[in-house]
Amino acid sequence: MIETYVQNIKSALGDFTPEVLIILGSGLSVLADKIEGKIIIPYTKIGFPKITIAGHKGELIAGKLGGKNVLCMNGRYHLYEGHSPALIKDMMSSYQRLGIKEIIATNAAGSLRPEMTPGSLMMITDHINFSGQNPLTGVNNDKEGPRFPNMSDAYDKELQQKMRQTASELQIKLFEGTYFFVVGPNFETKAEIKAFRTLGADAVGMSTVPEVISAVYFGMKVVGISVITNQSADIQTHTLSHEETLFEARQAAVDLQGLILKFLEK
Ligand code: HPA
Repeated sequence: MIETYVQNIKSALGDFTPEVLIILGSGLSVLADKIEGKIIIPYTKIGFPKITIAGHKGELIAGKLGGKNVLCMNGRYHLYEGHSPALIKDMMSSYQRLGIKEIIATNAAGSLRPEMTPGSLMMITDHINFSGQNPLTGVNNDKEGPRFPNMSDAYDKELQQKMRQTASELQIKLFEGTYFFVVGPNFETKAEIKAFRTLGADAVGMSTVPEVISAVYFGMKVVGISVITNQSADIQTHTLSHEETLFEARQAAVDLQGLILKFLEK
């Protein structure tokens, strides 16, 4: 499958060589608006499966952003849709073969900290994979990456520093913390939230970690940002919904757009 993905993307890109991959989370499509000279490749033309979730488009957009050649995933795959973690590994392998060196991964997440209110941005400094699943299970190909990859610096320190500095220049408040990955699709119970907080989580969400594990395995550098769309179940007084996630993400996406643009320009 990987060869097919790579060939299909390459034939759509022509002589365009991408350097940076941007993964857009739920409700964050607006970020793609500023990409210049867009080449739009529907996922189905690449051979990727159909996206089944509202707020995720299902296309790869190539072009210039902040002076860099970017590939932008407008829509991603979640384990809760029933996709196998291996799909995400193969996808990330394709990007690495296309020349991607750096990844900006974004997502929508729930906050476990009262001061991190909806609309806040949190740079992911570490994660906890609580899914019981891993994209790297199965026979390992030592030519691709190590059997037991190091995950102690999954989020690149230099890119984090660059992101911190960019946010400070733009006077955007950037929280930092640990992203807690659950499969979903249900939002958490109050007892789960209490447990996750005790375990060291600052934000909780249903994506990103399979991509990050795969990216690190294939030797790509990652910086991650969560857009906080809601407080967790034990703080929030009303019932959570996907519509609210999309609404809050779209509001915060404007800050995120400015941050990513400036980050790429540096
Ligand atoms: N929990 C899990 N995933 C999420 C949440 C949440 O509260 N908000 C947005 N994605």
